[in-house]
Amino acid sequence: MSRLVVENLTKIFSLGFFSRRHIEAVKNISFKIEGREIVSLVGESGSGKTTTAKMILRLFPPTSGKILFEGKDIWKDLKDQESIRDFRRKVHAVFQDPFASYNPFYPVERTLWQAVNLLEKKLSNKKEALELIKESLVRVGIDPKDILGKYPHQISGGQKQRIMIARCWILKPLLIVADEPTSMIDASCRGGIIQLLEELREVEGTSIIFITHDLGLAYYVSDNIFVMKDGEIVERGHPDKVVLEPTHEYSKLLVESIPKLYRKLEGL
Ligand SMILES: Nc1ncnc2c1ncn2[C@@H]1O[C@H](COP(=O)(O)OP(=O)(O)OP(=O)(O)O)[C@@H](O)[C@H]1O
Ligand SMILES: [Mg+2]
Repeated sequence: MSRLVVENLTKIFSLGFFSRRHIEAVKNISFKIEGREIVSLVGESGSGKTTTAKMILRLFPPTSGKILFEGKDIWKDLKDQESIRDFRRKVHAVFQDPFASYNPFYPVERTLWQAVNLLEKKLSNKKEALELIKESLVRVGIDPKDILGKYPHQISGGQKQRIMIARCWILKPLLIVADEPTSMIDASCRGGIIQLLEELREVEGTSIIFITHDLGLAYYVSDNIFVMKDGEIVERGHPDKVVLEPTHEYSKLLVESIPKLYRKLEGL
């Protein structure tokens, strides 16, 4: 059984109460993700990547089509609170906009305490939980004393993204949907974060949907690449196929736009 199956997924947004304007953000896309697989969704701004991610995360329903996680339709089969909680434990998000992921009224570590509370295996006491939280922060390159007790407005965007990744490290989910997870992290730390995601894949068998504008990075990290344009997947396959032999005009353009130095270093 595939870990995730996306079948004929479509999302149409209706704008305004009286207007008849509709935006077809995602158009009839289908793909599968196996365990321990990293796939990248690559495409220009507005191509439907975040909309696809949010449907997979069960944040809003598709207009049509279905999403099966471990064989279960996430919109039809998860009915009671316990199965939804189980889904939240197994499928985790790292968002493009880390500002929207935090409640301004609580210290930022609240999100890590919530992760600890979601764990299936309960920890014996608060001290043990705090140790796990501190360890997760160190794993993402944060000194715990730099952020513990602080509120969202007191830490940087990059720190917020890293805390979301620390959350993944605590929960060890089966699927991570990472939407531009390193967009606010400086280049020197970016490699470490990607490595941490790869380590979760190696050790825990986590599957990852990696959303990025950067086809060069996608080439480097993924087992499969899906190129999106105007809500459709216009090219798909192994990174070598997509990057070295692109067939769609838009993928050719993306390959052309990989910076030259990068291409030289990667031997592309
Ligand atoms: N809640 C919404 N209501 C109406 N339209 C929306 C909504 N969310 C997204 N859209 C529209 O759907 C389309 C796809 O948006 P989406 O955010 O999925 O793009 P994206 O590929 O993630 O872009 P980016 O790379 O800039 O993050 C865009 O035209 C966007 O304006
Ligand atoms: Mg987006």
